[in-house]
Amino acid sequence: MIVTIDGPAGVGKSTAARMLASSLGIAYLDTGATYRAVTLKALRENIELADPDAIADLARHADIRLTCRQDGVGVTLDGEDVSDDIRSLDVTNNAHYVAGCAAAREVLVALQRQIGSELGSFVAEGRDQGSVVFPDADVKFYIDADPEVRARRRCDELAAAGKPVALETVLADVLQRDGRDRSRPIAPLVKPDGAIEIDTTSKTVEQVFGELLRWVETRRCR
Ligand code: C5P
Repeated sequence: MIVTIDGPAGVGKSTAARMLASSLGIAYLDTGATYRAVTLKALRENIELADPDAIADLARHADIRLTCRQDGVGVTLDGEDVSDDIRSLDVTNNAHYVAGCAAAREVLVALQRQIGSELGSFVAEGRDQGSVVFPDADVKFYIDADPEVRARRRCDELAAAGKPVALETVLADVLQRDGRDRSRPIAPLVKPDGAIEIDTTSKTVEQVFGELLRWVETRRCR
């Protein structure tokens, strides 16, 4: 079974995808981690992020491996565990260079498909999973939510982690990431053909998970 979940930043995709994968007893494929890993490599090696040839070359030579862990996804880059390092603000703010590089996307899409074929059954989460990477998935979801609500959730997470940031700052960041994801020429964030759309604005994580699970079970019984 292949399930895809696409949607903008901060919409709760990762949590929902992890819960769904665990309840179905299948793997969780966090494709954003692959873009983050190449971004981390570029930052560490002082590669010019705005140079698509250099970024593509870096992506071709990066050894990225993903493993399922109890607390999410484990990521190794060239043999080193970078699961925490890829979540830094620096990586988050610069990942759009890799995401917007067509040749790097080609490499990462091939990697995601290869991981997918090894896993067999999985829940893949990202921006282009149902539209580009796994267009024949059994069930496709597109999750969205009001930007202010997404920003508020992110603020709450940051405050809980002891790193409070003003709501306006987080909202500006959410809107900027949305703009980049939706307007890039290659593999922009869109609602994939045949995707089930879920608006999480006024829903709890449990409600979203319940809704996803019901849809998957309905499709399974067809
Ligand atoms: O989802 P996450 O925030 O980890 O994604 C990191 C970066 O990778 C974002 O800039 C996002 O636009 C990009 N991305 C992408 N395609 C995917 C997954 C993530 O372009 N399938």
